[in-house]
Amino acid sequence: MSDSGSPAKIPVITIDGPSGSGKGTISLRLARQLGLHFLDSGALYRVLALAARQANIDLQDEAALAALAGELDVSFPAGDACEGKIMLSGQDVSRDIRSETCGNDASRVAALRSVRSALLDRQRSFRQPPGLVADGRDMGTVVFPDALVKVFLTASPEERANRRYNQLKEKGISANLESLVNEVAERDHRDSTRALSPLRPADDAHILDTSHLDIEQSLDRVLAWVAPALKL
Ligand code: DC
Repeated sequence: MSDSGSPAKIPVITIDGPSGSGKGTISLRLARQLGLHFLDSGALYRVLALAARQANIDLQDEAALAALAGELDVSFPAGDACEGKIMLSGQDVSRDIRSETCGNDASRVAALRSVRSALLDRQRSFRQPPGLVADGRDMGTVVFPDALVKVFLTASPEERANRRYNQLKEKGISANLESLVNEVAERDHRDSTRALSPLRPADDAHILDTSHLDIEQSLDRVLAWVAPALKL
């Protein structure tokens, strides 16, 4: 039996799903509202992809990427990603890692077995009292299979591309909706058909389609599963 300070007793809420499903915003809001730590696991894959580009490492060179993942000097200044700032070797890369190119590169490096295992312990180390909200693709299936509550968010590819289009427009970045729809479909296909930790709901996950819900409505539904489990 584990004692009360052991990781197994620290509650984890996993929020998995494809990009554009709303999981980033919803998991961050949930973590803040409940005063829990936050892990943006996608950011780790993005930082790795960025570091690989900077070091001129080929995105198919699995051994070199895994070695880089093991020694990656990445930090979240607030202790986790709640404040949204991400540093790579002392440089603020918060903005750079959000580009479409970096997202696609991240999806490619994330398909490699040694890369995923090199990042496993780092992700699990975010499980600290009083608890963790973990956002990603395989949080409920692989990284935290014993999570207290598992949620899988979905939305139609068109709606997700539309949300991305609006986000880019708000930032003053020009974008083409048709090519975003294609990119979303391509990334979904790669993330869900890869052999390792594919994007899929855990058997015991609550599934929520957010296509016709706004952030508040989605958050309310998630809270309705989380609050009783945390005995709030
Ligand atoms: O959530 P995101 O868009 O920031 O993630 C970027 C890529 O990283 C995504 O296309 C797939 C990969 N990823 C992953 O394989 N496993 C995770 N737990 C999180 C992200």
